[in-house]
Amino acid sequence: MSRGILIVFEGIDGTGKSTHCRMLGELLTEKGIANISFAEPTKGKWGQKIRRLLSEGRNGVSAEEELEWFLNDRKEDVELNIKPALEDGKVVLMDRYYFSTAAYQGALGFDPHEIKRENEKFAPVPDRVLIFHNPPEKSLERIESSREEKSSFEKREYLIDVQNIFKNFSGSNIRFILSDDTLENVHEKVVRAVKDLFELKL
Ligand code: TMP
Repeated sequence: MSRGILIVFEGIDGTGKSTHCRMLGELLTEKGIANISFAEPTKGKWGQKIRRLLSEGRNGVSAEEELEWFLNDRKEDVELNIKPALEDGKVVLMDRYYFSTAAYQGALGFDPHEIKRENEKFAPVPDRVLIFHNPPEKSLERIESSREEKSSFEKREYLIDVQNIFKNFSGSNIRFILSDDTLENVHEKVVRAVKDLFELKL
């Protein structure tokens, strides 16, 4: 069975990962490399429940249920989208995947390693994971500016915990992308971080 390549874009909000996910997709298309992008949470039934939770607040939904919804959403995404595209030999670009669950739900008190292990029972392990981050002072600035939002203080503490979990991921497929730079320079860093996965020169 031919297998495509799975590349994942991760990091806290505001690091530009979605933009760079799109830019890499455009470059691959330009080079004639078949690719497809997916984002999590998805637009499926679990993804919609999650979006409501994110915008309207918890309303009695427990952290356990939240974690379960993210896992259900991903199981559906793996079966309906990710596996078929990989089996088709495509490059699959993901805007968030299970490293987000390990970091965000890990910051709610679950063990990030356990979350990762649970996910790897059903979700293909990525060939490359690009973890976007800003320098600490920039990240704090951004996190501080989210003070206006509801439960601001909690949110700030929470995002700092999320960021610390992201920072501590290690493995041969992990690359960190410092995103405090021009769009072109960051794009170049992204290309450098994945080009060994392709036979074609990018
Ligand atoms: P987005 O802003 O990238 O669309 O993601 C929506 C939010 O969902 C973001 O704040 C991160 C959060 N999230 C989790 O908490 N766990 C997960 O597993 C995923 C995929 C996203």
